[in-house]
Amino acid sequence: METLLLDSNTWLLVLTGAGVSAESGVPTFRGMNGLWEDQPVEQVASPEGFAKDPLRVWRFYSQRRAGAAGVSPNPGHDALVSWERHLGDRFLLATQNVDGLHSRAGSQRVVEMHGNLFKTRCSNDECQRAPFEDTTVYAAGTVPGCKDCGSLLRPHIVWFGEYLDPADLERIQNFSLRAASSGGRFVFLAAGTSGAVYPAAGMVDQVRGAGGETWLVNLDPAENSRRFEHSVQGKSGEVLPKLGRLV
Ligand SMILES: NC(=O)c1ccc[n+]([C@@H]2O[C@H](COP(=O)([O-])OP(=O)(O)OC[C@H]3O[C@@H](n4cnc5c(N)ncnc54)[C@H](O)[C@@H]3O)[C@@H](O)[C@H]2O)c1
Ligand SMILES: [Zn+2]
Repeated sequence: METLLLDSNTWLLVLTGAGVSAESGVPTFRGMNGLWEDQPVEQVASPEGFAKDPLRVWRFYSQRRAGAAGVSPNPGHDALVSWERHLGDRFLLATQNVDGLHSRAGSQRVVEMHGNLFKTRCSNDECQRAPFEDTTVYAAGTVPGCKDCGSLLRPHIVWFGEYLDPADLERIQNFSLRAASSGGRFVFLAAGTSGAVYPAAGMVDQVRGAGGETWLVNLDPAENSRRFEHSVQGKSGEVLPKLGRLV
């Protein structure tokens, strides 16, 4: 197997997706066949779905909260923690996962591009109340309300059809700019992601455009596999711990 050299010259941007949490027992989108209770997941993970049936949306996320609370990080998450300890500020982890497992494993420089399952916010954009930590598994048939404005509360998740937080995108962009102009080696590694959801799926092209080196670790061929220079097929919990050569 190829190894990825991580030395004092290396800047590493990592993108993870649902596959990295699969070995912890969190189902991937595909693992669920894109369905929940036989309906397309979009119905419970979109602003339209929430407007139509907030009870159902909260039932879905409460179920996911209950599921994710009982799982633990796996060796794939741990490998990324050790890489970050080695590289320091020359490391950034952008994740599409909302399960919080990277932070629980000990990752510190993390951008949660799609939000966090254990955060809740007000659904009223005019409301000043900030997103807050919330591990509550709401009983079926309840929808929490905002204590400030009385609107419905919603999961702090980027749903289908919604925009990513510009501050998150800027953090990734700034890291990439610093890496590309550092005079060092800029590496991008994507793991456990199907390469179908944008803008994350387009990061490989941006890094290549900036002269960076690109690596993919995935169980199945991703939709954008051919755009990576290096590709390792396998489970992230098995591949990542062996892939990095820290010098
Ligand atoms: N854990 C989570 O937080 C979670 C779970 C499901 C879906 N989602 C959301 O759904 C969307 C789906 O995009 P995505 O690309 O992250 O997920 P995806 O489900 O579309 O794709 C997962 C990819 O991981 C690969 N994979 C499966 N098991 C693996 C393993 N053990 N090691 C390495 N690769 C493995 C699969 O081959 C697949 O290509 C995202 O927006 C994400 O926010 C998040
Ligand atoms: Zn409010």
